[in-house]
Amino acid sequence: MADSAGIQQGSPAIGAAGLVPAAPGAGGTEGSGAAGGSARIAVKKAQLRSSPRPKKLEKLGVYSSCKAEGACKCNGWKSQNPPPTPPQTEQQSNAVNLQEPCRSCSHTLGDHVTHLENVSEEEMNRLLGIVLDVEYLYTCIHKEEDADTKQVYFSLFKLLRKSILQMGKPMLEAQESPPFEKPSIEQGVNNFVQYKFSHLPSKERQTIMELAKMFLNQINYWQLETPSQRRQRVPNDDAAGYKVNYTRWLCYCNVPQFCDSLPRYETTQIFGRTLLRSVFTVMRKQLLEQARQEKDKLPPEKRTLILTHFPKFLSMLEEEVYSHSSPIWSQDFLAGAAGGQIPIHPVFSPLSLYIFPVGEKRKPSEPLSHEENKRPRVVGDIPMDLINEVMATITDPAAIPETSLLSAHSARDEAARLEERRGVIEFHVIGNSLNQKPNKRILMWLVGLQNVFSHQLPRMPKEYITRLVFDPKHKTLSLIKDGRVIGGICFRMFPSQGFTEIVFCAVTSNEQVKGYGTHLMNHLKEYHIKHEILNFLTYADEYAIGYFKKQGFSKDIKVPKSKYVGYIKDYEGATLMGCELNPSIPYTEFSVIIKKQKEIIKKLIERKQAQIRKVYPGLSCFKDGVRQIPIESIPGIRETGWKPVGKGKELKDPDQLYSTLKTILQHVKSHQNAWPFMEPVKKTEAPGYYQVIRFPMDLKTMSERLKSRYYTTRKLFMADMQRIFTNCREYNPPESEYYKCANLLEKFFYTKIKEAGLIEK
Ligand code: ACO
Repeated sequence: MADSAGIQQGSPAIGAAGLVPAAPGAGGTEGSGAAGGSARIAVKKAQLRSSPRPKKLEKLGVYSSCKAEGACKCNGWKSQNPPPTPPQTEQQSNAVNLQEPCRSCSHTLGDHVTHLENVSEEEMNRLLGIVLDVEYLYTCIHKEEDADTKQVYFSLFKLLRKSILQMGKPMLEAQESPPFEKPSIEQGVNNFVQYKFSHLPSKERQTIMELAKMFLNQINYWQLETPSQRRQRVPNDDAAGYKVNYTRWLCYCNVPQFCDSLPRYETTQIFGRTLLRSVFTVMRKQLLEQARQEKDKLPPEKRTLILTHFPKFLSMLEEEVYSHSSPIWSQDFLAGAAGGQIPIHPVFSPLSLYIFPVGEKRKPSEPLSHEENKRPRVVGDIPMDLINEVMATITDPAAIPETSLLSAHSARDEAARLEERRGVIEFHVIGNSLNQKPNKRILMWLVGLQNVFSHQLPRMPKEYITRLVFDPKHKTLSLIKDGRVIGGICFRMFPSQGFTEIVFCAVTSNEQVKGYGTHLMNHLKEYHIKHEILNFLTYADEYAIGYFKKQGFSKDIKVPKSKYVGYIKDYEGATLMGCELNPSIPYTEFSVIIKKQKEIIKKLIERKQAQIRKVYPGLSCFKDGVRQIPIESIPGIRETGWKPVGKGKELKDPDQLYSTLKTILQHVKSHQNAWPFMEPVKKTEAPGYYQVIRFPMDLKTMSERLKSRYYTTRKLFMADMQRIFTNCREYNPPESEYYKCANLLEKFFYTKIKEAGLIEK
């Protein structure tokens, strides 16, 4: 879901010759974020390095332990905990000499530096560098208003002081060390360039590389918002996860830019998709805004790059950043590369072409390695090389022009999806809370929602709408355009009952039938999959039944009555409808995936057609009164690649086919070796199963498919059954019991199929 803007994070100028890093003060402390901060410290360090040795010792004395007598425990008066007073002026803090008594233990400062007598100049300079970093952090702690940031500064402050005392190297003691996620942002962006643009001529690819470099640079100097700012802006986000990343970023990337005694890492090298996801939308928006504002200042040679190519690059990258199935985040993205040739990886594998649309469990597509090419093929599989070839043309951004997305044939939610990508609209799940201080913006949105619902659902009493929208147990997925609420879905989650009740759903009048309603519902579905609730129930009013049907709702309720009676509110004159979610479907991308699949099939058909040189005259028999002919008698049909599965009887009567397949399935299910295949394989029982097996199948799923009349041909039925055996033999070793069961059951299955005359004996 998009993150709303509103909080200005620091960003360096795009296209500027040098990127100017911002200083600590990510928490929004005014003044402390001056870019000159690091320069000032650098100048001070240089001055101190060239000052006489006594001066250096004076500086170090106040941070070093007293050696006067064994019993003195003083660590130097500037090493007290916590830092005593607000920072002193430079003159005050330097006004010490070695004969002066220490302000903490009263021994002379000279007694604090006896250990440094024989220390090399280089080591002295290193320690002085840490001292200046400590002093800078000390200023930051006092200026910083954000509690989380302050705490990190303080920890680093203590760490640096300790390393002066112990004359050691500052080492961050964390449970995890960088990199924190793989692949890194840098690797992911590189993969993206390979994935989407490797087919371009080298000059154009060079331009893309330049954009990628520019983007990575921006991230490395990007000021993250503080966890509390983020909580306000995206209330339902993973706050704990963000805070962990924010702390790491401060310690390893941000503070070390100024305190160079700390080891510094690039954000793009130690963080991965998670951090990128939390900054991308806002960052993209701000970068584009900045580009627009500064367009007249841009050097002419950079203008096209930044104003034309950069927005497009960001849009395409955004899709991969938020996609559930983008291969660029796979660790072995380049696994299939041979001899330095980086292939364009297919997003879909062959069978998904026809299985996925009817609800097959689809795992996020990873790039297909050569290993997968070697997997046993099942009836209906299309050769991988062919798929790769076709995919190479499909993933070409020029192949599917953006304007065509908005044509009469485009999916209903296409325009809304694009608007979201461009930042025109945003989606947020919001709600009222009795425990947290009300956030003004959220309250304004809740009032906006109450207005939209009241206008669009005139038969609902306004007070009732207000009560539910502001009830802390209800949440609302809100649709925001230009900072204003234009629609939403108010819902109540019942995790213990396994469903969510949709209470109100509306889009403001002048924004209806633009796909917003569909996109809202898709976001709501993804939100629920994330929260592991897989059923929606709603009382749809008479006029909205059509809309809910189009969103996958039906009057056939899957949730047992005992689960919802007494929980869901009953509305007079409305129809109870339910929708079961499939956790493997990325709903907000569903229409795009289908579109790409259609495109692949179209291309495959075109290829086949191009191979056929002979054109047959059309069939004339129907004019002569013939009503039906066998498929294989159509001239040229076999040349197109069509062939019956084995030789056998294709039952044309759907009811006859259904009852034959039902009997066979019942026989198979009752077989003594069927037990391993009765239900989908549980992740907990077979570790890594779903990484190995891309197209799982089981007898329960087959029964459901049969019941929903999916098996319109015996071929589909046989392909699914064969998939069960092939999967089993692929995952399990030959000596395993499962493997043996698969062999025996397969034999039995083919006997039954032959008996039914579906294949030749
Ligand atoms: N009846 C039949 N079909 C409809 C209706 C309807 N009332 N409203 C929209 N559709 C269709 C659209 O034509 C479209 O079909 P298509 O994809 O074949 O072209 C599809 O549903 C989705 O259209 P969207 O543009 O995505 O939906 P929209 O942004 O218009 O939002 C909504 C739909 C929320 C129902 C909106 O029309 C609305 O606010 N209506 C008034 C309030 C209302 O009736 N809300 C539901 C009450 S029940 C309840 O809240 C639990």
